[in-house]
Amino acid sequence: MNKKILLSGVKPTGRPHIGNYFGAMKQFVDLLNTGDYECYFFLADYHALNLIQNAEEMRRHSLDLAIDYLAIGLDPKKATIFKQSDVSAHTELAWIFDTLVAVPYLMRAHAFKASRDKGIEEYIKNKYGLLGYSGISNKDLPDSEKPAISRTPLAQKALKEFNEKINSPEYTAESSFNLTLKVLESINVGTFNYPVLMAADILLYDTKVVPVGQDQKQHVEYARDIAQKFNNAFGETFKLPEPLILGSTGIVPGTDGQKMSKSYNNTIPLFATRSEIEKAVMSIVTDSSGEVPTNVYAIHRLFRPESELKPLYEANKGKYKALKEALIDDIDAFIKPLRERRAELAQDEAKVRQILAEGATKANTVASAKLEEVKKKIGVL
Ligand code: ADP
Ligand code: TRP
Repeated sequence: MNKKILLSGVKPTGRPHIGNYFGAMKQFVDLLNTGDYECYFFLADYHALNLIQNAEEMRRHSLDLAIDYLAIGLDPKKATIFKQSDVSAHTELAWIFDTLVAVPYLMRAHAFKASRDKGIEEYIKNKYGLLGYSGISNKDLPDSEKPAISRTPLAQKALKEFNEKINSPEYTAESSFNLTLKVLESINVGTFNYPVLMAADILLYDTKVVPVGQDQKQHVEYARDIAQKFNNAFGETFKLPEPLILGSTGIVPGTDGQKMSKSYNNTIPLFATRSEIEKAVMSIVTDSSGEVPTNVYAIHRLFRPESELKPLYEANKGKYKALKEALIDDIDAFIKPLRERRAELAQDEAKVRQILAEGATKANTVASAKLEEVKKKIGVL
């Protein structure tokens, strides 16, 4: 009977795209439907507050993400679907964890480092006038997936100069500290604490399995570390979670050939209308050096088995327009039922709110029992 507990969350920050779907959301549904897990899926709205600081947008994005969850097939009868902010034990436990973790440890966390690198990037951009430069936050990507601009000689020169500057002997501790402070000015404490809240999200439910993309693996490891720290200090309380790394599909490329991402404006939205699909597919950058348009093919293989694609591309060598039209039809055939299901669900927002309210009640029962146990262990109860 005792099923393993599985939990994952997504930040409500905007319309999901097919990269999010094939990279992560689809596996949520597949894992739920195995029937092997007791599942919790939530909207990480307090994590999103680091990015979305506008009430209307926050409300809209949260409800939209709840509708998206339901539309892809997360069944509220089988899984607990809820909003993080509805379960105050998350933020309360995060505070308790805050007292156990050291500052430099959090400075090594992925979310913090990504924001810091973005800050450095802003600095380089302002100093050298490199619009669209994003060579630092993309440094873990292979060169071929970096935006073209970060490979330009000017960008390379700027990065080299920057590195030389902060490493040079005349760059004093004081100026280095000032530059660090300048960069840190753009980072809020919520971003710094991001993994602590995420640890609370995970540990409150005795979660065993956390399905996430590669970029979140380190944060799940932080949750393990924090569980161990707490257990060592106050006695056995938390189970140690394990990441389940998604992404057997690999990185889904965007219309420009880089990684598909909301931040690059190169997406095909998951619930796109036919005309949005047409527009996006027609804008796919084709590599004119070969007869097979690589970017078109890389997206097409998500929608049709390669055994069917090979003859299609063979028969249409060099005919980019025909291949793009075939891709439009295939994407549309795939998205249409999802789009229709979503439109239907969107008609009844009251029902979606009701589902979130029921999810919150269930989540609260589990989370508040755990929090009570924690409060006794630390001696505030
Ligand atoms: P975005 O880059 O569009 O802001 P997020 O960072 O919100 O996307 O990612 C949400 C989830 O979707 C993560 O688990 C991430 O690994 C996955 N994901 C995002 N973009 C892609 C992609 N292009 N290919 C595969 N998976 C992706
Ligand atoms: N940090 C995750 C992301 O950006 C979202 C998230 C918040 C999460 N809390 C979580 C994922 C707990 C898994 C478990 O994608």
